[in-house]
Amino acid sequence: MRRRSIIGALDLTKEEYEELFSVSDEFKRRGFSQSYSYLEGKVVSLAFFEPSTRTRMSFETAALKLGAKVIGFSGEEGISVAKGENLADTIRMLSSYSDLIVMRHKFDGAARFATEVTDTLIINGGDGKHEHPTQAMVDLYAVREVFSSPSNLVYGILGDLKYARTVNSLLRALTLFQPKFVYLISPPQLRARREILDTLNYPYKEVQDINEVISELDVLYVTRIQKERFADEMEYEKVRESYELTYETVTQMKRDAIILHPLPRVTEIDRRIDKTPHARYFMQANLAVYLRMGLLYLLLGEKK
Ligand code: CP
Repeated sequence: MRRRSIIGALDLTKEEYEELFSVSDEFKRRGFSQSYSYLEGKVVSLAFFEPSTRTRMSFETAALKLGAKVIGFSGEEGISVAKGENLADTIRMLSSYSDLIVMRHKFDGAARFATEVTDTLIINGGDGKHEHPTQAMVDLYAVREVFSSPSNLVYGILGDLKYARTVNSLLRALTLFQPKFVYLISPPQLRARREILDTLNYPYKEVQDINEVISELDVLYVTRIQKERFADEMEYEKVRESYELTYETVTQMKRDAIILHPLPRVTEIDRRIDKTPHARYFMQANLAVYLRMGLLYLLLGEKK
C-alpha cells in the first residue's frame, strides 16, 4: 500500500482493501496478546476534537500493539483551541510531534484541510457528516469475516442516511465490491443525500419500511440518528423515534443474515436482539483493532 493520507473510503483501491484485510487477518490470527516492534520510534497523534470511544481507543490500542508511542487529546477543553487557536495551527503543531495523525472533527472537510497544512500523514477518524473511512474498512472486514467476501450480497442500510458519515463511507466503499443489491431504508426526512446516491454504481432502492425487505437481506447495517448533526432541535424531535429494529422484525431474517452497527447505539435496536445469532455488532467492533493495526502497519511500517 502506498503511503498517503486516508480521507475517504475511496482513497484505497479494491486491491488495497484486499491487502489490508489479509494483513489484518495475520494480526488477528496471531491473537490479541501479541505485541510487535514494527512502529518502534514512531509517534501517532490522536487528535479527537469530537467524542469517540471505539475509533480513538482502537487506534490507540493498535498503535501501542505495534510498538508506537501515542500522544493526543480528546475534546477541545484541554488544548489551546480553548484559547482561540485555529485548526491549521493545531495541526501544524501536532505534525512536529508525530509521524501520523488520526483526527476527528465536527466540520465536513476538516481532515482534507489538514492535509493542506502539513505533509504528515492524516487518517480521517470522522469529519462532520462527510466520511469515516476506517469505519467502512471495519464494516467490510466484518462482512468478509462472516461471508468470505463483501461482494454479491444483499445489503440493507437502515437509519439516518442523511447525516451518518459511516453510511456515506460504506456506500462509497461498496462501489468497489459489486453488492447484489442495496436497500436504503429510512424515514423520508433522513434519506441519503443526492451527492452520495449519484456516485453509486450498483442497484439500489430507497424504501421506508424495513419489513418490506427484511427477508431478502444478507447484511442489515443499522445506524443511530446523528442528533449532534441537526441544525435545529425541532427537526431532530420530529424524527427522534422514527425507526427501531424490533425483535419481531429480526425473526423474519434469513437464517445466516447478520446485523451490523458502527456503534454507539441508542434506542434503535431492541436489546433482545443482542442474544440472537444475527447480532454481530460487537464482533464488528472487536475486529477494529486488527483492522487498524493492519492499516497503521501498511502506512507507517518499515517493511515496504
Ligand atoms: N463507530 C464509531 O465511530 O464509534 P466512536 O464514535 O465511539 O468512535
